[in-house]
Amino acid sequence: MLLPFLLLLFYGAWAMPFDYYGGFIEQMIADQLTELVKNDTTPVTVHPSIAKMLESTATPPPLGHPVLKEILGYGDVAPTPVPVQTTWKVAHFNGGSKIVVPAPDSILSYVELSIQFKTEKSSGVLFFWKEDAKFLTVTLENSFIKVYASLGVDATILRSENAVSLYHWHKLEVWRSGKGVLLKVNKQGWVESELHASKSEILERTGHIFLGSPDIQDVPTVMKDIDGFSGCVKRVRLNGKSIVMQSVYATNVSECFQDPCASFGCPKGCISHNSAPVCQCDWPKTGRKCTDLSDTTISAMKFLGFSYLEVDNEDVMSHITGDSLDMAVNFKIRNTTQHLRQILVSGGDVTHEDDFFELSVDNNKFVRFALNLGSGTVVLTHPKRIVEDTWNTVEVIRKKNSVKLSVNGEDPISTFAPDGAEQLNVYRNVFIGNNHLPEGSTDGHDFAGFDGCIISVKFDQTIINHPIQTKAAINIQDCAI
Ligand SMILES: *[C@@H]1O[C@H](CO)[C@@H](O)[C@H](O)[C@H]1NC(C)=O
Ligand SMILES: *[C@@H]1O[C@H](CO)[C@@H](O)[C@H](O)[C@H]1NC(C)=O
Ligand SMILES: *[C@@H]1O[C@H](CO)[C@@H](O)[C@H](O)[C@H]1NC(C)=O
Repeated sequence: MLLPFLLLLFYGAWAMPFDYYGGFIEQMIADQLTELVKNDTTPVTVHPSIAKMLESTATPPPLGHPVLKEILGYGDVAPTPVPVQTTWKVAHFNGGSKIVVPAPDSILSYVELSIQFKTEKSSGVLFFWKEDAKFLTVTLENSFIKVYASLGVDATILRSENAVSLYHWHKLEVWRSGKGVLLKVNKQGWVESELHASKSEILERTGHIFLGSPDIQDVPTVMKDIDGFSGCVKRVRLNGKSIVMQSVYATNVSECFQDPCASFGCPKGCISHNSAPVCQCDWPKTGRKCTDLSDTTISAMKFLGFSYLEVDNEDVMSHITGDSLDMAVNFKIRNTTQHLRQILVSGGDVTHEDDFFELSVDNNKFVRFALNLGSGTVVLTHPKRIVEDTWNTVEVIRKKNSVKLSVNGEDPISTFAPDGAEQLNVYRNVFIGNNHLPEGSTDGHDFAGFDGCIISVKFDQTIINHPIQTKAAINIQDCAI
């Protein structure tokens, strides 16, 4: 009784791929299998992804359904559900996602590429093509766009003039014609470079294009080892044609919801993080949509990474902008797997070209103080690593252009800001737990908001230890110590 049923099940599983996985995979597998059966002793070069799929097959497989069943990942017992085929206008990549399509023949003679993207992380591989020793890849590294290109001999690396912001749409264009390579990002100027030589040998194959995660084994050594892209991609054009982002070519790709904030209904501000909306709730409001009220007694202020305090008290500002300051922060940082620089206190120019100061904990948990009084930036990084989940006191003492940083009362380190200016001209307010981020700013950010608790921030005699003392207190909770 059971046998006919099982047979039916198997037949269904084998037949399905043809219905769902249209032309590409079918053709690719057919090609590879033809190559395999031509000669069962000589090794055949197959695309790594196919090789991987074939790994479990010890002997060369005969043509036919049973093999396809194996290759397409259908188990021996029950078929896994086949996803419905979709085409994304705007696709979301999560760092491990990729879309792999055959490269057009013309890629060997020229490249004319444009991609519109919105990134959620400051680094990731956007576009990857490599065949033999020739390659062209586009990555995002510390918020700058980089292009790596080679025609099989030397390699060149281009970097965009400026960084690109997170969570905003950008457009990049890359051209390669002859040995020349050009990069343009948004309205920034062209960046160009020239390769010295080209391998003249004609390649018979063009390989594949990867959007998102590249093939790890295939990554050229000049490239840093970085994850795939995180964010949204729309309209990818390569050599006059659009790359259609279809689910049959894709792994871990989903629909990009353009603005998760648009329909979420935050009463005030909203920011998008990993394509999820985060409401900016004015203390004491709290909760997903700021509908709850937090306790107004606060033992320490809890910052969630998306929190900040904006301070405009005149007595604080007069100390900040004067020619001396004694600032102390009593805090603990949460133990997370996130390793980004976290801002404790900041003020002034966020591009760091003009007067600013910024006290942060860097990605390796060292306390860092940066300052520009108008004649150049100095950075102090304290050599004593702070421990997560334990309380710390950091103190910064500035007298004119001399700066001293101490962590938990131990071995202060000091330096001098370049001569020429002695006052910190910070006109905007001071921010605790994050930086001021102007709307639509075009600079990239490799830091995150503070994730932990702050008992107090002292600016000379003024102590801030409660949201009520500030102009704005966003997403602050009680740390309950
Ligand atoms: C198959 O392999 C054998 C032994 O390696 C070789 O002599 C023969 O030329 C190969 N045939 C083809 C069609 O590649
Ligand atoms: C990709 O998706 C598979 C399941 O479809 C999952 O197991 C895997 O963890 C995902 N990888 C990433 C990087 O998200
Ligand atoms: C932080 O978390 C990691 C992993 O969960 C753990 O091994 C480590 O001991 C923690 N550090 C502290 C200071 O609690």
